[in-house]
Amino acid sequence: MAEVTPEQLDELVRAAHDARTRAYAPYSRFTVGAAVLSGGKVYSGCNVENASYGLSICAERVAATTAVAAGERRIDAVAVVGSAHEPTPPCGACRQFLNEFGPAMPVVVETPDGTREVWRMDEILPHAFGPEFLEE
Ligand code: THU
Repeated sequence: MAEVTPEQLDELVRAAHDARTRAYAPYSRFTVGAAVLSGGKVYSGCNVENASYGLSICAERVAATTAVAAGERRIDAVAVVGSAHEPTPPCGACRQFLNEFGPAMPVVVETPDGTREVWRMDEILPHAFGPEFLEE
C-alpha cells in the first residue's frame, strides 16, 4: 500500500466536494461525492439515482469502478462528502466493495462545511470477507 500524504488526502477531499456538485439525486435529494486515490491519480464519482430506485448507485462505487475501468487494481485512500450535517460514512455495500481494493485504506469523510473524520477501512469493516478467502 502506497503511503498517502496529508496533501494527497486534502486533494482527494476537494475532488469529492467537486464530484458532489454533479450528483444525480432527484429522489432522495441526498447528494454524495467520492474520490479514490489509485496509482497516484484521483478518480471521482457521485451518486446516480434511478426512477427504479433500487438501481441507484452510490458515489463510492462510481469512483471505484471508474478507477478500475482505467486499469487500476489498488485503492490507496477514499474520500466521501455527503449532504448530512455529520460526516457521511460509506454504506455497508460500499465498504465491502472498496475493501476488495485496499483493506487498510484511509477513509476520509467530510461534511459540506468541512467537518472531517478519518477512519481506516479495516476499522469500519472488521472481519471482512475479501479475495484472500477465494485463494486455494
Ligand atoms: N449514498 C451514497 O452515494 N453513498 C453512501 O455511502 C451512502 C448513500 C447515496 C445513495 C442514495 O443515492 C442516497 O445517497 C441516499 O441514500
